Amino acid sequence: MISGKSYPRMTAEEAAELIFDGATLACSGFTPAGAAKALPFALAKRAKAMHQAGKPMKVRILTGASTGKYMDEALAEADAVAWRAPYQSSKTLRKRINAQETQFLDLHLSHVPQMIEFGFLGHIDFAVVEATAITDDGRIYLTTSVGISPSALRHADKVIVEINHHHSPRMWEMHDIAILPTPPNRSPIPIHHPLTKIGAPFAIVDPKKVVAVVEHSAEDGVAEFDVPTDVHEKISEHVVKFLVDEMHAGRIPADFLPFQSGVGNVANAVMHGLGQCHEIPPFYMYSEVFQDALVDLTIQGRLLGASATSLTLSEQQLQRIYADMSFFAPKIVLRPQELSNNPGVIRRLGVIAINTALEMDIYGCANSTHVCGTSLMNGVGGSGDFVRNSYLSILVAPSVAKGGKISAIVPMCSHVDHNEHSVQIMVSEQGLADLRGLGPVERSRTIIDKCAHPLYREYLHHYVESSPMGHIRHDLNRCFELHRNLMEHGSMLPGIEAQV
Ligand code: COA
Repeated sequence: MISGKSYPRMTAEEAAELIFDGATLACSGFTPAGAAKALPFALAKRAKAMHQAGKPMKVRILTGASTGKYMDEALAEADAVAWRAPYQSSKTLRKRINAQETQFLDLHLSHVPQMIEFGFLGHIDFAVVEATAITDDGRIYLTTSVGISPSALRHADKVIVEINHHHSPRMWEMHDIAILPTPPNRSPIPIHHPLTKIGAPFAIVDPKKVVAVVEHSAEDGVAEFDVPTDVHEKISEHVVKFLVDEMHAGRIPADFLPFQSGVGNVANAVMHGLGQCHEIPPFYMYSEVFQDALVDLTIQGRLLGASATSLTLSEQQLQRIYADMSFFAPKIVLRPQELSNNPGVIRRLGVIAINTALEMDIYGCANSTHVCGTSLMNGVGGSGDFVRNSYLSILVAPSVAKGGKISAIVPMCSHVDHNEHSVQIMVSEQGLADLRGLGPVERSRTIIDKCAHPLYREYLHHYVESSPMGHIRHDLNRCFELHRNLMEHGSMLPGIEAQV
């Protein structure tokens, strides 16, 4: 399907020569899945050489979400990123962002394609998109993620296509690509079931804009998950028991509702736990990423099908899918992130959302992104799209971090990504706090009793009971005392960690 004639073929190094200092690149990639690889890696090498020669070379990078070693890690290591949006999870880039060497814009992921369409993110000089194939008339068949690629291809001045031969040429069978019209010309999105398809299996580019086609064969390089710990398993047990009880109480229909599960070790363990509980009927997912735990669940018939924007799978799990595309392709739909994470569709389908927080406060707010309100971890990602719009919004976190030096339950979140108006259920390995129908002070007592680690409960109860009266009780002199202790003494309650 690749045209040998129409498009200029180049090596990644030759294509990297096209990029200029200050350029904005909108690249494919949602997690390392489907991320552009050869071009950013070559660009990092070129930037290093230019810096050594005393020449400037920094670019602005927009993607679907985080990427991997070939893009974020390599470019950050070369100090070649001036601006980055909308999510990242690279150690080196995180350091640069927290040192203010790279400007970072933390965005709801469903907003990114429409922000490109609206022109909110400025001019895009290059789209760099990984594909399995490109045709003479400009159809581009994407790989393991869709993300922002369709909008990037439409709005960039110039396009570089990476043909990655590592991926199955049948990936298009999962793709459902549509770009929403701009307001006020939008109609309701006709997705009435997680597997409804409303678009085409390819993205489109104006062939005249394609300035280079680079061929290679490289793995996505998605890391495997850690083996679930006792803490992860306890969290999973609480979530599963709660959902079974809700189904028996008639608040979840007997044929269940679709799930969304966030990124990270805890969320992966929860999905595994849901799959093992046979009281919950086989289910669908309307989620953002299709993660490792879901491969076995599909084979076992526990997962009936999933809508996502990426196949974020370790190489071993991805190869299991590639080996049996006839089985998997009809059960997985990959869409642009404005559709996979669309608030209206999430609300219509009644998605049950399970996301992980760094810290949660005693009134129901959650911080998923900034340690002590200042240091970026990864970003809000798609969690806000789902937490705000789901049928049931569940936030999970281990009750303590760093051996007990940090309590995940604090009086006031040092940064708020999700507020008390959206969060309904909080879970730690200690228990589950159902906040539905509770006023602030009842919420605080429930969260402390059910979710806080026993070593922090007395402090937290005392904080509530001794704070000035009000609808929400807070003592503005002390609401960040635990955080201040952590910064000054290395522990939220000095001496407590020895006991965990
Ligand atoms: N303060 C400081 N560090 C904390 C902390 C806190 N309150 N809570 C956790 N941590 C640290 C852990 O110790 C761990 O550090 P380590 O890597 O040095 O061991 C790290 O944060 C990750 O914690 P872990 O328990 O392994 O969680 P995870 O892999 O499940 O990731 C988030 C948790 C919050 C970082 C991750 O889910 C995230 O980035 N979420 C935001 C985006 C999102 O929800 N996307 C999903 C939308 S579909």
